[in-house]
Amino acid sequence: MRMVDLIEKKRDGKELTTEEIQFIIEGYTNNSIPDYQMSAMTMAIYFQGMNERERAELTMAMVNSGDTIDLSAIDGVKVDKHSTGGVGDTTTLVLGPLVAALGVPVAKMSGRGLGHTGGTIDKLEAVKGFHVEIENDEFIRLVNENKIAVIGQSGNLTPADKKLYALRDVTGTVNSIPLIASSIMSKKIAAGADAICLDVKTGAGAFMKTLDDSRELAKAMVSIGNNVGRKTMAVISDMSQPLGFAIGNALEVKEAIDTLRGDGPEDLTELCLTLGSHMVYLAGQAATLDEARNKLNEVISNGKALETFKIFLQSQGGDPEVVDDPAKLPQAKYIIELEATEDGYISEIVADEIGTAAMMLGAGRATKESIIDLAVGIVLKKKIGDQVKKGESLLTIHSNQEQIEEVKQILYKNIKISKEKVPAPILVHEEITH
Ligand code: URA
Ligand code: CA
Repeated sequence: MRMVDLIEKKRDGKELTTEEIQFIIEGYTNNSIPDYQMSAMTMAIYFQGMNERERAELTMAMVNSGDTIDLSAIDGVKVDKHSTGGVGDTTTLVLGPLVAALGVPVAKMSGRGLGHTGGTIDKLEAVKGFHVEIENDEFIRLVNENKIAVIGQSGNLTPADKKLYALRDVTGTVNSIPLIASSIMSKKIAAGADAICLDVKTGAGAFMKTLDDSRELAKAMVSIGNNVGRKTMAVISDMSQPLGFAIGNALEVKEAIDTLRGDGPEDLTELCLTLGSHMVYLAGQAATLDEARNKLNEVISNGKALETFKIFLQSQGGDPEVVDDPAKLPQAKYIIELEATEDGYISEIVADEIGTAAMMLGAGRATKESIIDLAVGIVLKKKIGDQVKKGESLLTIHSNQEQIEEVKQILYKNIKISKEKVPAPILVHEEITH
């Protein structure tokens, strides 16, 4: 087989066979196919696309390019949840203990990553003593015992995706549905998920800005998962404004605690109940989505969800007292209110720009080397559709720097107030199960 022939084949809009897809991914992973040929191939895929079979096979070829995690020693259906990324997205912190409280095993491998705030691990490390450096057998023991544990990324997972993603980044081929869908799905499958629940964000703060694009990506991922024997579903949810109120690591831990207690922001609570119902249903712990939702509401009101969070924190060295006393989380030196300059209704809270402001305060990493300040961030007081009076607080800035003029300017510029009443955005647009 010659790569040049395969490039021409895809360029001309033809289907690649199973063997051809394996040849490409194996060759690229072991460096026998050079970057320049792979760039031409990704551009051909960008323009010509891939059918359902090709997408599933590309995904499995990437899974097989490296190690895979074996979770078979954990009892039950391992349902993983993945979000395509948003601003102040606290759902993972809430969903883990929430579904674990119902006996759904949560065996989470998580990363730090770049972005507006830290990754799930950074957020959890805001709890004093909490750590994810645990051995594999300890990880498995903890999930079997408590139904939840988080471990840092280890092993050589999907090396083909690592190389390919970096190449796509510099060749204008990131934005291709088959390439994005196979990239995300290969990582979930390699991490050992039996079933996968996807939260595809849509709107200004999301990777996919329009509902049509988000739906296409969601359907592509759902079809890949189901074609390779992993029950997969997707929710398309709003990211035109940040989710919940808190953006920042310790602030989001506090928000997760509030939500697990039943006192969380309405949108975050609703999205967690929607995603959580699907997770519980996929795990076979409820016969219908309604039954799953009722059970989730029950563990919130009877305290079991919060108790599961405490046990989880303690089992990985964290101080469980933060749950009853969030003042034990890292606190910023300066708490500054951002006051509305006019009367009206909030019409826009541009999610990614608010995220950038949080990052400038130190909540996230601009580069891999940046050090995160776990205490800082932003807590919104108003969301789109809310009425506001001049002088009323729009949000609270938690900062360790006294001079934050630039941050304030960004925030003012990206929170818009209109004279007319504005409806709140739709939170869950669609649920795609096949
Ligand atoms: N996230 C991924 O992991 N891969 C992509 O290709 C795009 C977003
Ligand atoms: Ca939040």
